[in-house]
Formats: sequence, structure tokens, C-alpha cells
Amino acid sequence: FAQDKKWKIGFSQVTTIEPWRAQFNKDILAEAAKHPDVELIVTDGEDKTEKQVADVENLIRQEVDALLVSPKESAGLTGVVQQAIDAKIPVFVLDRNVDTQDYTQFVGGDNALIGRAAGEYAVELLGGKGKAAGNVVEIWGGMGTQPAHDRHDGFHEFTDKEPGIKYLLDQQSGDWKQDQAYNIMATALRNNEKIDLVYGHNDPMAYGAYLAAKDVGREKDIKFIGIDGLPGEGVTLVNNGELTATFTYVTPGAEGLRQAIKFLNGEKVEKTITLPTEKITKENAAQILKDNGL
Ligand code: FRU
Repeated sequence: FAQDKKWKIGFSQVTTIEPWRAQFNKDILAEAAKHPDVELIVTDGEDKTEKQVADVENLIRQEVDALLVSPKESAGLTGVVQQAIDAKIPVFVLDRNVDTQDYTQFVGGDNALIGRAAGEYAVELLGGKGKAAGNVVEIWGGMGTQPAHDRHDGFHEFTDKEPGIKYLLDQQSGDWKQDQAYNIMATALRNNEKIDLVYGHNDPMAYGAYLAAKDVGREKDIKFIGIDGLPGEGVTLVNNGELTATFTYVTPGAEGLRQAIKFLNGEKVEKTITLPTEKITKENAAQILKDNGL
């Protein structure tokens, strides 16, 4: 006989192809393995809102004891999250928020804080407070997501105070993807003789922009800032001198599952759990790789 599991927990993931998502799934599965009383069902939204909505509906029908969801975008997933809440299923929203506060808990990084840290560093790289000057390309993540907006707003809190900083693009989204960022950057490079800094809302896009610059021999003139800071991705790119800096964005996989289990076991949980971040530059990249056995 299979051992009877106490809790059936559903996790609706938006996609599995990006490195950060793969790490996220690895983290949640590793945590699940520590809890023999938990059956974890993981679905893959294939980066499509309709698919992810269907996944969540399916998990509701399976009467999961708790639902974890990391949404493709806020608006499109709000209705189905509300459905789960109405069905009295505790909902844990991970990394990208929805347009309701009715859920049990949100677990994720502080994207506004990360944006501010990136903005502050960009100002430093471009000459320092009050003197910063240069042409900046910002490549947005998905326009319908909270992280992209927070990463934008935080960055501009610092850079907008610098009259010497000029922005070359107007709200161009690479939808978190390396290949889309490559294309955006290739066009920006054709249209602008001088680009000083690229701010990509995640490491895949910062790297896509780097590759576009490299293909026209201009990568040495440009600083590239990204976000995610996975050892095998962003940290390695910083250590190689391809990205100038990245900021860690811890996946909420392990913490999200721990919180859901805690709640199911009758303990109180906080409304929001904020995961830490760290700036990674040439200064600390090698040490971090070493600490991670890379
Ligand atoms: C992966 C990802 C990460 C990013 C996060 C934002 O899908 O794009 O690179 O940090 O989602 O929600």
C-alpha cells in the first residue's frame, strides 16, 4: 500500500524553461522531499495565461489542501486565485503578485528594493551622485507583472534624480526572455552610437543584450546590470566579466512550501514573507561560486 499522505498541495508554476524557474522547481521539490506527509502536485503553465488558469482550475477540482501559485501575470490569474479562495483553499502567491489581497500569504523578493539597489549602483557606475551621465537602455520584464513595475520604479527613484542620465527606450518589454532582449538591444545599438548602461529586469535579458552588443563589437563600452543572481547563471556571467552586476532574487520554492505546511498544521503565518537580496559584482562573484561548489 502506498503511504497515506496527510496533505495534498498543488503548485501552479508559470513556466519551467527559464533557469530561475528550473531552480524554483528544484527548490520546492527538495523541500517536499523532506516532508513525507505531503503530496506535491506541480503543474507547468507553459508560459501561457490560459494554460495556467486551466492548471489552477484543475488543482481546485482535485481538492488540494493548499494552492501555491507563481503567476504568469497579475490580471489574468486573479480570477482563478479568487476561485480557489472562494472554495476555501488557502492560497500562497509566490514571486509575482495578483490583483487581490484575499490570499493567505505572499512569498517573494522585494522587487522595489532590488530596483533601488540596481538604480543606486547604476548611478555609481555612471559617475556618482550628482555627476552621473550616460545613455541607459532599460529592458522590461513582462508588462503585466508586478516585479517588472517594481524593478522599474525602484531603479528610477535613483536614476531620475540625475539630469545627466538619458533613457533611450520607452517601456520596451523583452518578456523576461533572452532572445527578445537580444532583438531589442540589436535595434537600440543600430539607432544609438553611444550606449553606456543596460538595465535588464532579469539576467537572461541582461545577457541577451550583452550578446547583441558583443555581436557588433561594442560590449566593452557598456555596463550590463541584471537580476536573479543564480550561481550557475548571473553570478557566473559577472565572474566572467560579461555582466557588471546582478542582484540575487531567491526563489520562494522552499520557503513557500514550508509556509503552506506550517499553515496546514494550524500555525499562524504572516501575510507577507520577504526574501533577501544581495548585490553581486566582480568583488564577491568568485567567492559565491566557490561557496556553491562551482
Ligand atoms: C523567471 C523570471 C525571473 C524573474 C522572475 C520575475 O520566469 O523571469 O527571471 O526574476 O521571473 O517574476
